[in-house]
Amino acid sequence: MEESKLQDLLNEMTLEEKVGQLTQVFGQPYLDDNYEVTGPMSFLAVPSELVPVAGSILGASGAESTRKIQDVYLEKSRLKIPLLFMADVIHGYKTIFPIPLGIGASWNPDTAVKTAKISAVETAVSGIHVTFSPMVDLVRDPRWGRVMESTGEDKFLNEQFAEAFVRGYQGDSYSDPYAIASCVKHFAAYGAPEGGRDYNTVNMSERQLREDYLSAYQAAIDAGTELVMTSFNVVDGIPSTGNRWLLKDLLRDEMGFEGVVISDWGAVKEMIPHGVAADEKEAALKALNATNDIEMMTFTYHRYAKDHIDAGHVDEKLIDESVMRILKLKNKLGLFENPYRAASQDDEKDLIFSDAHRQTALEVAEESMVLLKNDSVLPLEDNGQTVALIGPFAEGEDMLGAWSWKGEAETASSLHASLKSALTSGNVLYAKGSAITETTEEWMEEAVKAASEADVVIMALGESAEMSGEAASRSDITLPQSQADLLKKIAELGKPIATVLFNGRPLDLNTVEPYSDAILEAWFPGTEGGEAVANVLTGKTNPSGKLPMSFPESVGQIPVYYNHYNTGRPAEEREEGRYASRYLDVSNYPKYAFGYGLSYTSFDYSKVTLSNDIMTSDETIEVSVTLTNTGNRVGQEVVQLYIRDLVGEVVRPMKELKGFRKVQLNPGESKKVSFTLSEDMLIYVHQDLTEKADAGEFDVFVGASSLAEHSGRFSLKK
Ligand code: BGC
Ligand code: BGC
Repeated sequence: MEESKLQDLLNEMTLEEKVGQLTQVFGQPYLDDNYEVTGPMSFLAVPSELVPVAGSILGASGAESTRKIQDVYLEKSRLKIPLLFMADVIHGYKTIFPIPLGIGASWNPDTAVKTAKISAVETAVSGIHVTFSPMVDLVRDPRWGRVMESTGEDKFLNEQFAEAFVRGYQGDSYSDPYAIASCVKHFAAYGAPEGGRDYNTVNMSERQLREDYLSAYQAAIDAGTELVMTSFNVVDGIPSTGNRWLLKDLLRDEMGFEGVVISDWGAVKEMIPHGVAADEKEAALKALNATNDIEMMTFTYHRYAKDHIDAGHVDEKLIDESVMRILKLKNKLGLFENPYRAASQDDEKDLIFSDAHRQTALEVAEESMVLLKNDSVLPLEDNGQTVALIGPFAEGEDMLGAWSWKGEAETASSLHASLKSALTSGNVLYAKGSAITETTEEWMEEAVKAASEADVVIMALGESAEMSGEAASRSDITLPQSQADLLKKIAELGKPIATVLFNGRPLDLNTVEPYSDAILEAWFPGTEGGEAVANVLTGKTNPSGKLPMSFPESVGQIPVYYNHYNTGRPAEEREEGRYASRYLDVSNYPKYAFGYGLSYTSFDYSKVTLSNDIMTSDETIEVSVTLTNTGNRVGQEVVQLYIRDLVGEVVRPMKELKGFRKVQLNPGESKKVSFTLSEDMLIYVHQDLTEKADAGEFDVFVGASSLAEHSGRFSLKK
């Protein structure tokens, strides 16, 4: 409808109807006539008066069910404002792609566009209008289970992916029925909980928040994300959902977000245990005044908004503004014309989990894998050799990972079957060896027997899907003991071993690396994971992924990330003596650095040239390098550009990623790769919170990872 008509609609609404728009409930009350919630979950019971006025639905799916919910609602509701359906489609709906951390490891934002587009199609035909994705939280602590949902520890990389995901979901226009709205989350700084414990306190300066954490959300906003979700954590002592400075002053007024803010699940009421609200009534007051529009799954607005307005504690104008934002979104999506939008059982049959979607899942899974080590074991040759495939992920284990509620683990391609068909001339012996956390003597013996009969051993090991994701923080991020024992025992046979890892976070690989001649990080690779791993193991696909997050040497080093500060006593500059910033028992370096990943071919970097050693406001600098494929396979390399600001007003990171380019080269082929450095890329947040670049000297590093060597220096003249 015309946007001007929305105001007429708003004018017609009672206060109860308005507040209803601000509440998100689940679909059960509309599907089940005898709907009742008892027992420990009774706090979720949707009050019956809310049923005909609620504004949106969480987690319903399937064309049949979403259409029915919409029908029942429209029949009961007076003004017949269609419901908005929202759900978590994080790395695919039914066709499951690698976890976002894996998509980040592709260092190719196009993979995010492609996977988000397909997710949008499958989501749209099942009747959902909004996905709670992308999560763009910056993460530096692999103990936190939710690192699997992010694209890693670097803000520049996260910005590229944030923009790409939003573009993929939302497309160019909602006249495309398969475009859905995206909701960026979790605003703000949810990725920095103390100790990596989920939902824990976040404590950082406003300067750091602005410098490191905001830019990925900003990239999603600039790309047009329709919604923003609040985070569970506090920001400067105030839970995000009730933090007016955060949501109003910063997000809306300064960052320019004009869309709908939704609380995270139950986060309004969580202000009570946080200790900033005495009861539900006070929680509602804080969230409303913070301009949080939608309350997800608790009912404090419904119960108390009217009291607050009557008492003059909440201005009804605020409620009107929230409702208008929601009406506008519903209108943009065309729900007033067609409340079912793309929901269609026929289209579900044709489009969901289609061959084309699965083909993309295969390609993206291959592109997400990171080869961490390879002492001449991989790729496996199809030369008649006997391969033993051992471990819980060889067959059967869930390869989809957390946040794949619609995915069916049993429909994922099996590594065992895929490897067998890839190695046509050889023999593949299979033994489970261990489940995720336990083994038996018999399983162990079978595995030892298979390995002893083989020329080469593939170990398929990892975490279960439940060991990462929400509420899945771990203080010990090594492989479960039974798998570590299995690997060690197999290694005693002295056969070449390639270990494939399935996991949702960087792991401590001390129980893996010494016993493996090769390590392939496969993350949770999704629907086509088995085939993708087989293709990489056999060299049909040459791995090209790079780590989006550092793998620590040990848990005690955490947080360990590439863009740290130098400190006043850098260990490298004080080889002698003990008074340096270092541990007595472990180095300062991660086991595998950000940006690192190997290929089956090799690349040579020429000397790096800078077009000038002076930069001014109007004069940029061209940084160029020639990359040559010196091996004998086609391969892709991610050329990475880092800078270091040598003297700042506040301390500056040792390195900051400023550009990357993924380049494909045939054997022997060379290509020149250039980056343009300009003053805006040198801007940082100063002590007074202004953003500007300082005159002075900058180092440039170009190479294959964050370990890239020093390649030049320039000065910014102002
Ligand atoms: C998570 C969100 C998610 C929401 C809805 C919460 O527990 O933190 O990321 O979108 O649930 O399912
Ligand atoms: C220590 C101080 C000490 C000073 C003088 C420094 O290295 O950090 O605590 O007082 O030396 O010995």
